[in-house]
Amino acid sequence: MQYLFVKHSHMLFVAVTIILFNLRFWLRFSRPEKPLSGVLKVLPHLNDTLLLFTGLWLMKITHFTPFGNANWLGVKILLLLAYIGIGIMALKAPPRSAKANTGYVLGMIFVLTIVYLARYKPF
Ligand code: HEM
Repeated sequence: MQYLFVKHSHMLFVAVTIILFNLRFWLRFSRPEKPLSGVLKVLPHLNDTLLLFTGLWLMKITHFTPFGNANWLGVKILLLLAYIGIGIMALKAPPRSAKANTGYVLGMIFVLTIVYLARYKPF
């Protein structure tokens, strides 16, 4: 019961992080002159904190350990650090610049790979 609650919360925060990343990138892309609203600056931090918190909670419940009994989880956490770094780069660079666009594409590849690893646990 608790497992399902935490897991579904984790997956909800996953969906929200992907939506907010896209919203921020595409708003900046379509209206480069307009700064993002305060809500769109604060909400992602709140959501990502909850994503991390539920992830740690799932580790506690499932006893999966990164590079211990769950290599997929270790790679997932490394990709998470890459997703954070590249996401910051994409959203700090001038809208429509090569840096912003490349950061967006790489960020999406990283986050979708994370979802794949968590879902299928291939190794
Ligand atoms: C961008 C960040 C993240 C994404 C996109 C993500 C994605 C997911 C998804 C989609 C699942 C459900 C997999 C399924 O369908 O069975 C999941 C489960 C899980 N995640 Fe995350 N996660 C993220 C961050 C984290 C973090 C930071 C941790 C740990 C510190 C973590 C630990 C776990 C664990 C232990 C499970 C449980 C797997 C299971 O019970 O089968 N996740 N994650």
